[in-house]
Amino acid sequence: MKNITVVFWSGTGNTEMMANAIAEGAKVSGNSVKVLSVEDATKQDIIDSDLIALGCPSMGAEVLEEDFMEPFVESLSDIDYTDKAVALFGSYDWGDGEWMRDWENRMKDYGVRLIEDGLMIHLTPDDEGTNLCKKLGEKLANA
Ligand SMILES: Cc1cc2nc3c(=O)[nH]c(=O)nc-3n(C[C@H](O)[C@H](O)[C@H](O)COP(=O)(O)O)c2cc1C
Repeated sequence: MKNITVVFWSGTGNTEMMANAIAEGAKVSGNSVKVLSVEDATKQDIIDSDLIALGCPSMGAEVLEEDFMEPFVESLSDIDYTDKAVALFGSYDWGDGEWMRDWENRMKDYGVRLIEDGLMIHLTPDDEGTNLCKKLGEKLANA
């Protein structure tokens, strides 16, 4: 059985909704799935996981949330990702996805295998967005 961990930061709940839908999709596989707010997550949670989803909305001016998510992501730079796969996701509003492109490139520099481009949802996920999140969870579970 694989360990799947979803870690997210969310200020107004949109990225949290995405996290929960991704976890729901991943659970279909029968694997163990943990969903953690980044405030409660540790680097060890990531080290102990085979499959990881990281979520953060676009904040500041097209950057990760700076108090919790940014230092958490920075702490993941020296993990051995050989047997892991990662998915990125997050909500945004007015931007063009720059924060996600930068985040993808950063994770690739860490040696991460991203299962697909980061999933970006405009503000609150609607039914279609929620389904995309569930599908991402299923894909992650089978990565
Ligand atoms: C302080 C702040 C900065 C933001 N900066 C951006 C931004 O640079 N680009 C963008 O597309 N959206 C930006 N947003 C909009 C959020 O990404 C959007 O509201 C998102 O749905 C929040 O997700 P959450 O509910 O998970 O916190 C910003 C929102 C806030 C509150």
